[in-house]
Amino acid sequence: MKILGIETSCDETAAAVVEDGVSILSNQIASQVAIHARYGGIVPEVASRQHILAIIPIIEQAMAEAKVAWSDLDGLAVTVGPGLAGSLLVGVNVAKAMALAHHLPVIGVNHLEGHIYANWLGEGTADSAPVFPLLCLIVSGGHSDLVLMKGHRDYLMLGRTRDDAAGEAFDKAARILDLGYPGGPAIEQAARSGSASIQLPRAWLKGTNDFSFSGVKTALLRLAEEGKIQAGTDAAASFQEAVVDVLVTKTVAAAREYRVKQILLAGGVAANKLLRQRLMASSPLPVLVPAPVLCTDNAAMIAGCGYYHLRAGEVGVLEMDVIPSLKLA
Ligand code: KG4
Ligand code: ZN
Repeated sequence: MKILGIETSCDETAAAVVEDGVSILSNQIASQVAIHARYGGIVPEVASRQHILAIIPIIEQAMAEAKVAWSDLDGLAVTVGPGLAGSLLVGVNVAKAMALAHHLPVIGVNHLEGHIYANWLGEGTADSAPVFPLLCLIVSGGHSDLVLMKGHRDYLMLGRTRDDAAGEAFDKAARILDLGYPGGPAIEQAARSGSASIQLPRAWLKGTNDFSFSGVKTALLRLAEEGKIQAGTDAAASFQEAVVDVLVTKTVAAAREYRVKQILLAGGVAANKLLRQRLMASSPLPVLVPAPVLCTDNAAMIAGCGYYHLRAGEVGVLEMDVIPSLKLA
């Protein structure tokens, strides 16, 4: 089954063709980072206008790279939420129009579920495919969720952030330290030339699987305001260390408690090297992590996830709408 995936939930216009939920035939992304960097963050109205300009060319590029015509496709998968309403609308309306014009089934995909299914993508995954039950740590710009997955499309939310998401915390810390946008890669880059010598607080929220990152961010802001940060690189390394420490410690504890077989990492922050390495080193269980390019927003993960829905006989309707605050569980 060849599925065309479309992703426009935030600031990347993306299209990809994936076969049987595993093989990536193409994966095209038109990033708006350079445009939003001027404002230090995403401007929703600008994002939706850029999606309108980029969506058709990016679909054509994805189909050309995969060497497929519309008649070669078995279906379309598109992100319906969560995300920015105006951005989601562009992808969903184009997907519905193409499905109608080319007589193809279309399925609406939850963006967070797409992030999880990035772990099924790639050559050789047939043998190394995820084994249930597994624990997903989803860390993106909008979410920090610990989710128990007992089977395909079977989720139990164990914990979530009570304030800032991990990616959001990286973005805010980068702004405090004047490191630019997007913050995650900027902090990671700066941290390479610094040492984690500054003590920053960790919110353990004992007895829960929840996270909180507003305290560490505020502590960093205080230090910056009081002029107590000598080297931005040390502050970046210390901040990264504090966030990764909490994410890894709590994830490994939850994996033990729920006796899962594997830990799966997903979302933009999963591209962070320290997080990947520390989780692999600390976990007694196998840790699955997508290739870095499949951690941040892309359409291959949406097409891959859509395959499992279509294979199960689910089909969306042309009346389907965007759901900006869609939950995973
Ligand atoms: O999943 P994603 O691409 O978009 C959302 O669904 O939100 O995640 C974006 C978030 C941003 O906050 C970005 O700063 C963060 O992921 N991020 C990183 C890294 N790359 C992206 N955070 C830490 N280290 C990175 N290397
Ligand atoms: Zn995302």
